[in-house]
Amino acid sequence: MSKKTVERVSKGLSGTIRVPGDKSISHRSVMFGSIANGTTTVEGFLPGEDCLSTISCFQKLGVSIKQNQDTVTIEGNGWDGLTEPAEILDVGNSGTTTRLMLGILATRPFHSVLIGDESIAKRPMSRVTVPLREMGSQIDGRDHGNLTPLSIRGGHTKGIRFQSKVASAQVKSAILLAGLQSEGETSVTEPEKSRDHTERMLEAFGVEVTYDGLTVSVTGGQQLKGRHIVVPGDISSAAFFLVAGAIIPNSKITLTNVGMNPTRTGIIDVMLEMGATLTIENEKDVNNEPVADLTIETSTLKGIEIGGGIIPRLIDEIPIIALLATQASGETIIKDAEELKVKETNRIDTVVSQLKILGANIEATEDGMIIRGGNALHGGETDSFGDHRIGMTMAIAGCITSEPVTVKQSEAIAVSYPTFFEHLKSLRKE
Ligand code: S3P
Repeated sequence: MSKKTVERVSKGLSGTIRVPGDKSISHRSVMFGSIANGTTTVEGFLPGEDCLSTISCFQKLGVSIKQNQDTVTIEGNGWDGLTEPAEILDVGNSGTTTRLMLGILATRPFHSVLIGDESIAKRPMSRVTVPLREMGSQIDGRDHGNLTPLSIRGGHTKGIRFQSKVASAQVKSAILLAGLQSEGETSVTEPEKSRDHTERMLEAFGVEVTYDGLTVSVTGGQQLKGRHIVVPGDISSAAFFLVAGAIIPNSKITLTNVGMNPTRTGIIDVMLEMGATLTIENEKDVNNEPVADLTIETSTLKGIEIGGGIIPRLIDEIPIIALLATQASGETIIKDAEELKVKETNRIDTVVSQLKILGANIEATEDGMIIRGGNALHGGETDSFGDHRIGMTMAIAGCITSEPVTVKQSEAIAVSYPTFFEHLKSLRKE
């Protein structure tokens, strides 16, 4: 276990960084390339631990995948190219790997076992295993198939009309992926729209997807065709430096090539509403996904209320938004965010407990948190609890606290942003 200490930034942050590839899109590029016919090449892949877990699982399923830094080549042989793995499939810390792979394995006529780390072992999987069983797949595991280790014997499956209780792209994607190899039509209806990278990338791979409001549908029997994928930068990683630039005095940072998919840009809406000096330039489309360059300057911020349909558009950014809110005048209320309880950690608990260590005025609520901003934070010893986004939030907090902040289990940051500390160092003016 490693421990990092971050010291206050005295002269501001300045410069330009290219944020690493989007985690959600990187996972999907490997998965879809693995079930496609022909070669898929990926550029801008995120070589974070989560996405490397996805590569290793598909290699165990018999797919030839070569990865070198942010370049990946996958030799897909279609759905039937996946073969029964001799080994257990280890998903590491990755919920996306677990849930999307369950959707793919649900229709494969062989047996496989999924296992992950301590955090994965606590995360609810029945949100996908229940509908996948209803489609005809055999899945079992601890807690009646809710918790890993999970065993799957896929087979003949039938399409369903699934009404999801949660706005979750992992749930939607798992069911749609199973639907691609099931009899008839499969549709998923969500309470709010979740990120739509699966739909966009399936279309890029030649799959027909239909939309009707909050319902997405596919018909069974569709094949994917290998292609070249360019992965945009991850707005969820950019978020840490957007907040750093806004709250650290004398700062101006440009983040290039940031993915601007509207299902992910809630953080930008929130920062603008709070009064951030944030500009968006060079907007363009790459592979069916919008990207832009963002520039953030030190800002005077005010508290706001965040809830409802925006929550799925910023769910992964709530830890760093909570830090932002500690530096805004007035109160920030985050509500409708119960999903935080089932992320890599219970992020209501971890955000509140760790920011309190630094003197933040923050309290947990049933579905979010309330932050009273405007007070200076002090140093202290914090813990990521193995959650990459908690680790990075605490590291950015250390840039503004009067004394240093220590982050225990800082190695977790490599799950999504292996070059985080290098980027932070390169932006310091001192
Ligand atoms: C993801 C979906 C979200 C998000 C996670 C990545 C994805 O999870 O929090 O980091 O790639 O589909 P849920 O689907 O559980 O909301």
